[in-house]
Amino acid sequence: MSEALHGTVALVTGASSGIGEAAARALAAHGAAVALVARRKDRLEHLGAEIEGNGGRALVLLTDVTDASQARAAVEQTVADLGRLDIVVNNAGVMLLGPADEAPLDEWERMLSLNLGGLLNITHAAIPHLLRAADAAPRRVADLVNVSSVAGRVARPNAAVYDLTKFGVSGFSESARQEFARRHLRVAAVEPGVVLTELTDHIRDGVREATRERLGSIEGLESEDVADAIAYIVTRPRRVALNEVVIRPTEQDW
Ligand SMILES: NC(=O)c1ccc[n+]([C@@H]2O[C@H](COP(=O)([O-])OP(=O)(O)OC[C@H]3O[C@@H](n4cnc5c(N)ncnc54)[C@H](OP(=O)(O)O)[C@@H]3O)[C@@H](O)[C@H]2O)c1
Repeated sequence: MSEALHGTVALVTGASSGIGEAAARALAAHGAAVALVARRKDRLEHLGAEIEGNGGRALVLLTDVTDASQARAAVEQTVADLGRLDIVVNNAGVMLLGPADEAPLDEWERMLSLNLGGLLNITHAAIPHLLRAADAAPRRVADLVNVSSVAGRVARPNAAVYDLTKFGVSGFSESARQEFARRHLRVAAVEPGVVLTELTDHIRDGVREATRERLGSIEGLESEDVADAIAYIVTRPRRVALNEVVIRPTEQDW
């Protein structure tokens, strides 16, 4: 357990599984109090109990981040209960791959409303609190970490709308970085390649197995590998900002 984030508060979306769960655990291990945001109560409560059992502090917030009022309530509840907000990890996302000419419109809408809408809902509510934390002890710097993807850098077939959302996250992050740099709110886009999580579970029948076969042809990253990168980003000295981090499995040649 390090003390690098002692006295700070982090909010992680999508903390009930995969990268978000690992990131919440990693930030708590560095001493941050952590607000755990997602919809699955049992998973969040289990993680919250684990963090508290290890001497940390966790707040479970059952939240659908696609709903702007729920997202705002999660941010406000974090500040009310934990006292401040220094770090936001916008991680919740869904990847519904498949040929565009067969895609149900509903899948495109789900990706837009979560990968972009959810991120924007949380960010909009969080900015004033992050700017306040960026001006305050103990760190005098704050962090907005947006989980994008290699799919936010390189477009591929069968991923048009997922790519659209992740290119959007990368673009939004760079613009926000420039806007907030002088106020010490650091903005980072984290762009993982293949990570072994539940992400492919939601892909429709007929596409899911082929996708898993393709992604499974290499040794993928563990969620903890990406969480390590996130923890590294937010534990840098005040003068250091990692703005874009691509993290691929060694064997990923695309
Ligand atoms: N796995 C990869 O290969 C990979 C690669 C690059 C980027 N990424 C990105 O990494 C992020 C995390 O994905 P993952 O791989 O860790 O997948 P995951 O295990 O499926 O995690 C997705 C998380 O999002 C949450 N979520 C879904 N809908 C939500 C909603 N409406 N409101 C709040 N939370 C919601 C889920 O929790 P609930 O269902 O409990 O709400 C879950 O905790 C995503 O943005 C994904 O695009 C993943």
